[in-house]
Amino acid sequence: MKVIVGITGATGAIFGIRILEILKNVKEVETHAILSEWGRKTLELETNYSVEKFEQLADFTYRITDLGARISSGSFRVDAMIIAPCSMKTLASIRMGFADNLISRAADVILKERKKLILLTRETPLNTIHLENMLALSHMGTVILPPMPAFYNHPQTVGDIIEHIACKTIDQLGIILPELKRWGGLQEIYHKGGNTPE
Ligand SMILES: Cc1cc2nc3c(=O)[nH]c(=O)nc-3n(C[C@H](O)[C@H](O)[C@H](O)COP(=O)(O)O)c2cc1C
Repeated sequence: MKVIVGITGATGAIFGIRILEILKNVKEVETHAILSEWGRKTLELETNYSVEKFEQLADFTYRITDLGARISSGSFRVDAMIIAPCSMKTLASIRMGFADNLISRAADVILKERKKLILLTRETPLNTIHLENMLALSHMGTVILPPMPAFYNHPQTVGDIIEHIACKTIDQLGIILPELKRWGGLQEIYHKGGNTPE
């Protein structure tokens, strides 16, 4: 399975990094990674990762300006693309088919080839433009997966929250990760905790 992973300039570059780290250990997956100019800035600002370290996580990396890269063409077969995090600018660009850099062009190709596009859209609060862009892309089959924390799995650290969101994203590819803590129903909680429902 070939998967493109793009990191854009919304806060949360660590989501894209963690997704790449997990996918590196999944044998059947070949990753193609792109970092936007502002994704690079947030990566350096928010994490301990350098661009060089980021590049080591993927099987192939591309420059954001390289519109001649093979993932810029539908003739190069890929199965899915994840943008984590996805800025409102990149979201708008994809919705309009603007394709002015390799992330928005690759996403445009994914849509025209009817492949899976997963966007970890990140902004808060959301204005009507953001919401309309997400809705329009959702109607086209895009998975809108904002990196929202879950608490039913009792996260203890920020790392736990990142892990859960990264695993949920990869779950969308149909890859089953044993580390994803799934909701097992209230009965499971009561049996573990010793409390019984009223
Ligand atoms: C520290 C920092 C955090 C940002 N966080 C967000 C965010 O959460 N969501 C967003 O849409 N834009 C955010 N931005 C603004 C984007 O980086 C900016 O719109 C940029 O043009 C996005 O370009 P790109 O999508 O090509 O990476 C942030 C910028 C900085 C410097």
